[in-house]
Amino acid sequence: MHNIRKIAEDVIYVGASDRRLALFENVYPIERGVSYNSYVVLDESTVLLDTADHSVSREFLENVEAALGGRSLDWLIVNHMEPDHCSVIAEIVLRYPDVKIVGNQKTIQMIKQFFSFDVDSRAHIVKDGDTLTTGKHTFAFVFAPMVHWPEVMVTFDTSNGFLFSADAFGTFGALAGNIYADELDFEKEWLDDARRYYINIVGKYGVQVMNTLKKAATLPIKMILPLHGPIWRENIGWFISKYQTWASYTPEEKGLLIIYSTIYGDTANAVDVLAAAAAERGVRNIHMYDASKTDVSVLVSECFRYSTIVFASPTYNAEIFPKMEMLLSELRAHAFQKRDAAVIENGTWALSAGKKMSEILGSMKEINIIAPVLSIKSSLKEDQMGAIEEMADALSESVRG
Ligand SMILES: Cc1cc2nc3c(=O)[nH]c(=O)nc-3n(C[C@H](O)[C@H](O)[C@H](O)COP(=O)(O)O)c2cc1C
Ligand SMILES: [Fe+2]
Ligand SMILES: [Fe+2]
Repeated sequence: MHNIRKIAEDVIYVGASDRRLALFENVYPIERGVSYNSYVVLDESTVLLDTADHSVSREFLENVEAALGGRSLDWLIVNHMEPDHCSVIAEIVLRYPDVKIVGNQKTIQMIKQFFSFDVDSRAHIVKDGDTLTTGKHTFAFVFAPMVHWPEVMVTFDTSNGFLFSADAFGTFGALAGNIYADELDFEKEWLDDARRYYINIVGKYGVQVMNTLKKAATLPIKMILPLHGPIWRENIGWFISKYQTWASYTPEEKGLLIIYSTIYGDTANAVDVLAAAAAERGVRNIHMYDASKTDVSVLVSECFRYSTIVFASPTYNAEIFPKMEMLLSELRAHAFQKRDAAVIENGTWALSAGKKMSEILGSMKEINIIAPVLSIKSSLKEDQMGAIEEMADALSESVRG
C-alpha cells in the first residue's frame, strides 16, 4: 500500500524510511533509522525530484506510481548522484522510458558510471542558474559543489519558494507520520542527530556550505525539502543559523567536553578528578565520554558542539590509544578548528601519546592548547594536583570567557 503525502496541491512526498539499516554509508550507526525523501510535482508535465535507496525501493516505486495517478513521468531531476538517492534510477527509466533526466554535466557522467542504460538520449543537461519550466512551476538549479559530492545541486521552485536542498538540511532518523520539523520536538529529539549527520557527512566542506548558504540567502525560501529527515516550513532561519555555526566551525555552546581513553582505569580517574576541579570553579556544561564506548561519529559531532575540549589517552605500543587516535584523525579529516584544548597522557614505561596528540592537534587550524600537557605515570599522584588545578583554571576561563 502506498504512503504518499500532499505537501502542496501539486507537490507530493513519495519518500520512505529504513529502520533496519545499522550503519549509514556502512560507517555511521543510525539507531533511529533514516529516511530517503523524494518528491513528485504534478504540473503540465510531471516531475520527480530524486529517487531513493535500494532498501526502500518497493515503497518508493509504489509511491511514485500512486502520486502520478496514471500519468507518465516526464522529468527526473537528479540533485545528487550518491546511491542512497539514485539507486532506483534505472528502474524509473524502465517504468517511464520517455523520462528526461535533468542534471549537470557531472551528474550525467556519474549516471553513466553507475548504470549502463542509454543516458545520452534522455539527458537534459543544465548549467548553474539554468531554469526549467514545466507549466506553472519554474525550477532554478543552483550548484552546490561538495555539499556532499561534487555534482550536487539544489533546485529552487520559484513558483512556491520550495527549496529542494539535496543532502543539505538533512538529518539521520526515520520519519513516522510527521514529515514536518514543526510537528516534532526537533531541538530536543532531532538536533543531536542533525548535527551528527551534518558534521560527519559534510563537515569537512564548511567553505562550500557557506557559499551555498550565501546563494540561498538571496532566495525567498518558503520551505526546505531535504533528501533525509523532516521538511522545514517554520523556523527555517533557526536551522539555517545552526548550519552557519557548524559550517564556520564556530562552537555551538560554551562547554567543557572531556574525551578519554583508558585500559585499566587510571586515565579515567584523572579526568574525573579534573572534571571535579572544573565543577568547583563553577563550570556547569561538562560532558565526558570514553572513546572506546561511544561511536566516533558522536564524538566528532560533540567536538563541533563545545568550545573547550580535553583529550586524554594512555600510550599504547608507543602510539596514542587506537580509539583516541581515530577520533583525532577523524577531526583532522573534518577540518576541525577554532577550539581551546588540553591534553593528558598516560604511560607506564615510555610516554609518547601526549606528544603525538599535540602534533595532530597542532596540524589543525586555530586549536589553542591552553595548558601544559599533563603526563601521568600509571596513576595520578598527589603532587600532580597543582597541575590539575592549573588545567582546571584554564578550562574554566575558556568556558566562561
Ligand atoms: C598493549 C599495550 C601497550 C602499551 N604500550 C605502552 C607504551 O608504549 N608506553 C608506555 O609508557 N605504556 C604503554 N602501555 C601501558 C599503559 O599506557 C599504562 O599502563 C597506562 O597507565 C594505562 O592507563 P589506564 O589506567 O588509563 O589504562 C601499554 C599498555 C598496553 C596494554
Ligand atoms: Fe550524499
Ligand atoms: Fe544522502
